[in-house]
Amino acid sequence: MDEVNSEVLFKKGAEASLFLGNWHGKRVVIKRRLSKKYRPDKLDLAIRTYRTVHEPQLMHEAKVAGVPTPAVFMVDVQTSTIIMEFIEGYQVKRALDGFSQSERHKVCFKIGSLIGKLHLHDLIHGDLTTSNMILTSYSNVFFLDFGLGEKSSELEARGVDLHLLKRALESTHFKVAEECFQSVLQGYREVVGAVAAEELLEKIREIERRGRYVTERKNS
Ligand SMILES: Nc1ncnc2c1ncn2[C@@H]1O[C@H](COP(=O)(O)OP(=O)(O)O)[C@@H](O)[C@H]1O
Ligand SMILES: [Mg+2]
Repeated sequence: MDEVNSEVLFKKGAEASLFLGNWHGKRVVIKRRLSKKYRPDKLDLAIRTYRTVHEPQLMHEAKVAGVPTPAVFMVDVQTSTIIMEFIEGYQVKRALDGFSQSERHKVCFKIGSLIGKLHLHDLIHGDLTTSNMILTSYSNVFFLDFGLGEKSSELEARGVDLHLLKRALESTHFKVAEECFQSVLQGYREVVGAVAAEELLEKIREIERRGRYVTERKNS
């Protein structure tokens, strides 16, 4: 870790602190998972270690699937730290609202096709929000934050993954959420095919029905 120069805190999330730094002449992001006082020490270390090791593994598998993710330069389990490439661009969350309809369609279609590639390789992102995607100047989209991801071939896991994105769009971009999600689905369909896409859509409807049922039960 001595090789890192000029660490500057740039994001403090619920789970990790992110620093910008310089590592062997490269601009890097240093993601350090923080100890949680409410967790027993042993469990805390086990969770941080697991996610620190697991996240770069999934980022690598995503690359193999054809989904851009930052290059990982170093993993230090002792300090729960990952050093990775800094991706120049805008969080999709920030970029989306200033876009025209056709630009939004293009980006959301792209996002859908990338999710399709992940799912075709049994990769579940686990936290598909527009904060975890960076749009670069070449209209490429990088996916970040695989700490909650998993390998699964279950339709349920794919459904929950995309349902989470739908909910995230509704809460952060509610005026254009429906339109964006339709574009995501189109991109997804292009990669996985019409049958698999329809199957997934039906699964999402089922997840939504379950959600409504639970809410009604709670309220009655
Ligand atoms: N490699 C990276 N390049 C550029 N920005 C990044 C990179 N990694 C993280 N970020 C920025 O930091 C934010 C938080 O990082 P993330 O990995 O999502 O951590 P958290 O688990 O706290 O959400 C991201 O939403 C993104 O804006
Ligand atoms: Mg995140």
